[in-house]
Amino acid sequence: MNFEFTEEQLMIRDAARDFAQRELLPGVIERDEKAIYPTEQVKKLGELGFLGMLVGLDYDGGGMDTISYVLAMEEISKIDSSVSVIMSVNNSLVCWGVEKFGNEEQKQKYLKPMARGEKIGAFLLSEPEAGSDATSQRTTAVDMGDHYLLNGTKNWITSGKSASTYIVIAQTKPELKHRGINALIVEADSEGISVGPHENKMGMRASDTHSVMFNNVKVPKENLLGEEGFGFKFAMKSLEGGRIGIASQALGIASGAYELALKYAQERKAFGKEIINHQAIAFKLADMATEIEAARFFCLKAAWLKDQGKPYGHASAMAKLYAAETAMKVTTEAVQIHGGYGYVKEYHVERLMRDAKLTQIYEGTSEIQKIVISRGLVD
Ligand code: CAA
Repeated sequence: MNFEFTEEQLMIRDAARDFAQRELLPGVIERDEKAIYPTEQVKKLGELGFLGMLVGLDYDGGGMDTISYVLAMEEISKIDSSVSVIMSVNNSLVCWGVEKFGNEEQKQKYLKPMARGEKIGAFLLSEPEAGSDATSQRTTAVDMGDHYLLNGTKNWITSGKSASTYIVIAQTKPELKHRGINALIVEADSEGISVGPHENKMGMRASDTHSVMFNNVKVPKENLLGEEGFGFKFAMKSLEGGRIGIASQALGIASGAYELALKYAQERKAFGKEIINHQAIAFKLADMATEIEAARFFCLKAAWLKDQGKPYGHASAMAKLYAAETAMKVTTEAVQIHGGYGYVKEYHVERLMRDAKLTQIYEGTSEIQKIVISRGLVD
């Protein structure tokens, strides 16, 4: 047991913190308010290597470990989760699956540009009638001999418009239920693809979330990821790592709100003293700090297991559940500590509270994490 980070891990954390303060903080309120996609910020994130930080050096990635990823995700999410969700999806839901299960040609063609951050990836699992119940895929990929013919609608897709590469989960053999589902790499500019309007969201308003429609889209057979019928397991395995990313995002949202509340409580005076000297506020901050530390340990434990090559699905579900619930609680308290100022945009905490809500929903709701955790208890 060793609670110390390596020098390299600390350098990555500091680089992410510096990037977030320098490049993300200016303009974050306006991007949120007007739902402006962070084009320049994402480009710089790619140039710094964060979009492909988990991909191996052989495929133009950063070759960094998952602990470093947790640290970087926390720092970036303290400031702008609309940016960190793009980083999380690209790294852990798209690049990871192609690197782990793709063949050499797929890695050369699709993985390398995404690892370099030149192209963005999106993960298309959710459908209008298949959210939590992910096996109920209605999108079909009919086997036409030399290609699949793709038809259907995916929704709530992060980077739905900005992505160049889609990983699409679709049903090829409905008679086999989830064992008939495939995972396909689909080029976003293929004929027959249309993208719906930008979703006008409560939080994470600057990330581009869209529906994506497929109308007789031809997908070459060589774009199948893994074996025929592996698509559902591919999605589940990808989500095991994705949930470490979103847990770390929730951790960052919580610690960002906590840092602001701690600073405010030391400056703001009421009844003749700084409000941190009132026990009602001090105890809130004590609870917030304790729960954030616990969430951090959950995230790091899941990341450590992944880096050690040990099973991590159970730990990542616990990390996502606990960190998301903590983010919601801590951001709500941060608004409360700020009083009226917390309710206006200039103080950032109301945005963090809106962003926190999504971490309880996407990449598996808190209730889905409890299904995964409880099933793991009796395995
Ligand atoms: N790894 C490998 N295989 C797995 C697995 C895992 N982690 N979890 C399940 N499976 C396998 C099972 O072994 C089973 O296979 P066999 O029948 O061949 O043995 C098969 O998958 C079906 O499993 P279940 O019977 O457990 O399936 P279920 O219908 O009960 O659902 C679930 C399980 C955990 C609830 C799953 O549906 C789930 O995770 N749902 C939530 C989906 C989700 O997280 N969506 C998020 C969308 S992506 C997103 O938000 C991205 C974004 O843009 C930010």
